[in-house]
This record gives sequence, C-alpha cells and structure tokens, in this order.
Amino acid sequence: MRLDKYLANMGLGTRTEVKQMLKKGKVAVNDKVEKSPKTQVQAETDRVYVDGQEVQFIDKVYLMLNKPKGYISATDDDQHPTVIELIDDYQYLDIFPVGRLDKDTEGLLLITNDGQFNHQIMNPSKHVSKTYEVISEKTITNDDIKSFKKGIELSEGVMKPAELSHGKLDKQSFVTISEGKYHQVKRMFHAIDNEVLVLKRVSIGDLQLDSGLDLGEYRHLTEEDFKKLRQN
Ligand code: URA
Repeated sequence: MRLDKYLANMGLGTRTEVKQMLKKGKVAVNDKVEKSPKTQVQAETDRVYVDGQEVQFIDKVYLMLNKPKGYISATDDDQHPTVIELIDDYQYLDIFPVGRLDKDTEGLLLITNDGQFNHQIMNPSKHVSKTYEVISEKTITNDDIKSFKKGIELSEGVMKPAELSHGKLDKQSFVTISEGKYHQVKRMFHAIDNEVLVLKRVSIGDLQLDSGLDLGEYRHLTEEDFKKLRQN
C-alpha cells in the first residue's frame, strides 16, 4: 500500500494532510525518514513512525454502540444523521452497522468493517436471536405470550416462535426474535392489537448491551463479547 494511503487509513489525516507531514520529514518507515507519498509499505510487517511515535496498524474494527433515537442505521443519508456519524474514530476504515435498527429504536447496534462478521450475525441461517425491551400501549397478556410462541402472522407469512415475557414495570415487556423482518417487533405487537411506544435492543445472542454505555457512546468488543456471540 502507498505510504500516504496507509497514514490516511490509520486516521492520521486526509491524503493532502499526510502528504504535508511526509514533506516535512515527520514520517519514518523502519527507522528511515521517507518523504515520498508513493513509498510502498507492507501494512502488517513494516513499522511506521510519525514524529517518532509508532503508528498502530488497525485493520478490522468491531464496536458496540448504544444507539440513540433519531439516527439512521446506514452509512449515509441525505436527510437524517447516521449512526456512523456517532463514531468519531475509525470512519476512515469504511465502517458500517451490522443490520438495522429503526430510526426511533435505541440500544445495541454493532458496527464493523468486516463483511464476514456481519454475515455471521445477520444471515438468517445462523439464527442469532435478538432481544428487545418494549414499552407498549397496553400491558401484555398471557394469551399474547402464547400467540408469540405459536408464531405471529404478518404479511410475509407466519413468523418463527418468539419469546415474550413481562417486564418489572407496567407495560414493559421483553421479546426475543430470531428473524429480522422490516419493523418486525412493531408489526408483531400491532398484530396482537397493541402498539410499541418505546423499543430498545438489549441483546444480540448472549451479548448484552453494556450498561456503562450512555446513549451515543460506544466501545470495542472484547474477547468475552466475541465468545458470547459465538455461543449461538
Ligand atoms: N423491530 C422493529 O420493529 N424495529 C426495530 O428497530 C427492530 C426490530
């Protein structure tokens, strides 16, 4: 990879900015100052320094975001802010959201630049379940729980069995689904003559939203988190 591209990819500035750095002699590759942006570097093996500080090579990124309302789960949008705009670092690594949450849904959203990881979580054949906390217009009934277990009929057909349970608060419930149809939870509640007022994703498989993350905050996934995701 060209040295200017490498530096830009690692977040050190735009291509123009890193060319300026190079010109000023601030960049060294394996202890030799390099001024040409065309210098080729092997990302995994060469050591690159800016002002004497080694540039850490980051290739793949895996983040957990506590998505706030009002953000679109997409990489760009003409009208609304996107979840990617919440991620200050790593935008240069072509990150994207793993699946979608509606604009007005909050909670656990994974962000990555690894297509394979995305596929593992999102491919319906992998059956990774997703759990949502719901505040609904009416309190759920035991019949609702049974209906969800049997499979709610939507326009596409009968949904797979979903686990519905009471929350501690009135009108609060938790629902676990193993598909990801458009507006699925909202439409399932609508089908039982109820309406979702607030929706928040609290887990993906065994991975729970970190309670230490405020809305709009994110952190890297840990080895523990990956283990929980692999348990499916
Ligand atoms: N189901 C919905 O209706 N909306 C979401 O954002 C996620 C699941």
